[in-house]
Amino acid sequence: MSPDVDAIVKEALAVLAGIEDAVRLDQAKARYLGKSGALTQLLKGLSKLPAAERPAFGSRVNAAKEKLEAALEAQRARIEARKLEARLMEEALDVTLPGKGLGVGGIHPVTRTMERIEQLFRSMGFEVADGPEIETDYYNFTALNQPENHPARSMHDTFYLADGKHLLRTHTSPIQIRYLESHRPPVKIIAPGRVYRHDYDATHSPMFHQIEGLWLDEHITLADLKGVLIEFLGKFFERDDLKVRFRPSFFPFTEPSAEIDMSFGDGWLEMGGAGMVHPNVLRNMNVDSEKFQGFAFGLGPDRLTMLRYGINDLRLFYENDLRFLKQFN
Ligand code: FA5
Repeated sequence: MSPDVDAIVKEALAVLAGIEDAVRLDQAKARYLGKSGALTQLLKGLSKLPAAERPAFGSRVNAAKEKLEAALEAQRARIEARKLEARLMEEALDVTLPGKGLGVGGIHPVTRTMERIEQLFRSMGFEVADGPEIETDYYNFTALNQPENHPARSMHDTFYLADGKHLLRTHTSPIQIRYLESHRPPVKIIAPGRVYRHDYDATHSPMFHQIEGLWLDEHITLADLKGVLIEFLGKFFERDDLKVRFRPSFFPFTEPSAEIDMSFGDGWLEMGGAGMVHPNVLRNMNVDSEKFQGFAFGLGPDRLTMLRYGINDLRLFYENDLRFLKQFN
């Protein structure tokens, strides 16, 4: 009798060890341990044994059952572990694969110019000031010596807001006023920002940029204005043979006034306006115009960018055509 038990256990262990999936494992369990399984059959023969042998045989069969059950569970655990391992392998990230590559952005050419301008003026001792793009009539015009109905107001094609009280600033000059409200001369600032006008052609965009400059002190003259702007333009274009022209002009908030032109193709392109701050503006701001004087300017960075990179239509900067913009990075 006993070899039967050993033989069944030996065979069953060999079979279990070779099983690789859970379904076949269940089938094997039924074959050896189930109701009509091999070991159960042996137990059924128990009654045919002499009574004295029954207990010993019964416990041998039970020990064999326990051994097979343990082997079965161990194999089940092995199968599960292998399955998990396979899944982890499948889902594992291969960190050595090349990435998908996020497109690297670039700095817009006009932004690049603005940053460069700031840097150059800072190196000449100017501080950087800021102001809002939505302005009131007072800051954009009145305080700048352009009372209501002043003909110079029509020089700027202004975008007004529906409330009738506000407008999109047409220049950065209102920052002069805002700055003088909170600071007393001497002041030496630039103020970069976006400005808006109802304009649209190759050298005019409805949204463009300006860099305001303001230097007030006790002994500032027109010579300083020319010196600073020529020094700046030379550094900006990295050339000392630039053709710069100061052309007499008119602004209500400067006297005398000039327009700064640079050679462009066969002619000249206006880069900015400038002049000695008008005494009326200083008086409006409670600055002693006998003691303090100085100059202001408003440069067009979009136009400076055109000249620096040889672009003949400024609107290209704002059409967001990547084929154009990518060339600057
Ligand atoms: C002014 O706006 C004055 N506030 C400048 C100023 C400041 C004068 C301080 C005196 C003292 P003007 O309208 O000329 O001036 O504009 C200045 C510059 O902005 C122009 O020379 C030009 O370079 C640029 N600009 C004007 N309109 C546009 C536009 N639509 N698109 C791009 N650039 C423009």
